[in-house]
Amino acid sequence: MEALSISASGPLVRELAVPGDKSVSHRALLFAALAEGTTRIEGLQAGLDVLASRRAVEALGAVVQDTGAAVRVEGRGLGQLAEPADVIDCANSGTTMRLLSGILAGQSFLSVLTGDRHLRRRPMARVLDPLREMGALALGRDEDSRAPLVFRGGSLRALTWTLPVASAQVKSAVLLAGLHARGTTWAVEPAPSRDHTERMLAAMGAVVRTEPGRVGIVGRPRLRAVDCVVPGDPSSAAFWAAAALLVPGSRVTVRGVSLNPTRIGFFHLLQRMGAPVTLTETGTACGEPVGDVSVEYGPLQGIQVAPEEVPAAIDEFPVFCALAAVARGESEVRGAAELRHKESDRIDAVAGELRKAGVAVDTCPDGMRITGGGRLSPARFESHGDHRIAMAMGVLALAIPGGAQVVGAEAAAVSYPGFWEQLLGV
Ligand code: S3P
Repeated sequence: MEALSISASGPLVRELAVPGDKSVSHRALLFAALAEGTTRIEGLQAGLDVLASRRAVEALGAVVQDTGAAVRVEGRGLGQLAEPADVIDCANSGTTMRLLSGILAGQSFLSVLTGDRHLRRRPMARVLDPLREMGALALGRDEDSRAPLVFRGGSLRALTWTLPVASAQVKSAVLLAGLHARGTTWAVEPAPSRDHTERMLAAMGAVVRTEPGRVGIVGRPRLRAVDCVVPGDPSSAAFWAAAALLVPGSRVTVRGVSLNPTRIGFFHLLQRMGAPVTLTETGTACGEPVGDVSVEYGPLQGIQVAPEEVPAAIDEFPVFCALAAVARGESEVRGAAELRHKESDRIDAVAGELRKAGVAVDTCPDGMRITGGGRLSPARFESHGDHRIAMAMGVLALAIPGGAQVVGAEAAAVSYPGFWEQLLGV
């Protein structure tokens, strides 16, 4: 794809839906493969990351069919997956690789996971260490710290594992391995991370114990197939909220979004910046609270983001920083070192992109300081192969007089196929 040129063409006044939640979609597919019976999944997100999870469960012997309105997965049952005939390619998807690692640790056959060059750079020791401690053979490149990863598991011991960082992916890998172990496996977290795994496994019949600071799972349950309607992705809705705040006169409502409290930290940050953002719960789907997100254009004030606010907004920092660039005064994010280990190093990458538009940004190991409110200059942004940076810079372009270009805009398809068409009406 050539560089995409983006500029505002008047206020955005829209009501819309966004694709299904990525985290819930991965789990719906992966857990359906472990269940007894057939799972019907409606609203499964169609991005490249989720496709990687679909291909993975197919490689492990689950049959996945599109029925038009939904996707049906015939489960294999816990411990009943089939040895894959080839290496499983997780593409760009950290969720596929890390959650699958927990599942594969519980299987007695050999499996190998790889991914694209971005994923092969991301830290994996945090997942392999507890799995090895539970008794699985779990190896990786670079002293067991990076993919490709190799597993031969089975006969796992239950474990209490203290996570080095708040990470839903690591927590999920430990709990999924724990499903295959005798006894109760605990994940102790330094701060709460998204809890979709706990919600979905509990709905499927697993015994999940949630206590302050830790979550446990009782091993070897019978998991039953539970149909799922995937709610809209709050991380995708975030780009629409930002677009509304960048173009004067805009008013956007995104319907049917997951309002899971572990996922909506970004909207609370916007409220602290003075943005008129309303969250209205309307029901539940897939065990998640669901509702509408409404945002109207309004001036923004820079804020300090505290470390404890980071986990519930972790995927939204690229777009948060884009908004901080137009907000009046300084914004600062701290306690967000994890951003350096996402699809790209989101601290250095976002800082570099904002500077191209003339924004003053200082980085530090665990965050950055942005001085907002200055005049933005036209820029040629790069996505760094990172879907969220592509979309964050794409919406920032709406606030730049004369617009901007995004190189590598096609990365958006990882989590939001059709984003550019929906935004630009092309
Ligand atoms: C995810 C967890 C988060 C998030 C990622 C999706 C998940 O990562 O950044 O995009 O679905 O579990 P952490 O494992 O670092 O929390």
